Amino acid sequence: MESIHQKSIDTESIGGLTQTVIEELITAAVDARKKSYSPYSHYQVGAALLTGDGQIITGCNIENAAYGPTNCAERTAFFKAVSDGIRVFRAIAIVGSPEGDELTQYAYPCGVCRQVMMEFCNPVNFRIIIAKSVEDYRVMTLQELLPEGFGPDNLA
Ligand code: THU
Repeated sequence: MESIHQKSIDTESIGGLTQTVIEELITAAVDARKKSYSPYSHYQVGAALLTGDGQIITGCNIENAAYGPTNCAERTAFFKAVSDGIRVFRAIAIVGSPEGDELTQYAYPCGVCRQVMMEFCNPVNFRIIIAKSVEDYRVMTLQELLPEGFGPDNLA
């Protein structure tokens, strides 16, 4: 694991992300989680994606009565961005826990979301911030979460 944080240090930068940007992303993910549509699992997830030009695109999980069409928060954020013509990404913050205001666990991205990240992100540089709060989070690269991943380069 690249970094485990229990405490904020203002001047610190992880993978080129300043503490301030990391906190902004986590705060945006927490806000996005409030929009979660999860009447079946009652598990709420929020994500905040940092684009190459510094924009933050958010997403929440969106469930469906037929279960299968459910979309994870991370993919919602990616698909919103890509459908707006954005394809360069630096990092994503993810917060997820059972319904309620409290974040009781670190919510790592599912395998499908990791694969979607692999499509658009450099696995060595793309940072995944898994947070319980702005003061308690972990930062990992996509390569750490999806080693030896299959991606666009395989088909080049
Ligand atoms: N979920 C996400 O939004 N992201 C993940 O990476 C894992 C799971 C959602 C899907 C579903 O709405 C709920 O969490 C329970 O699986």
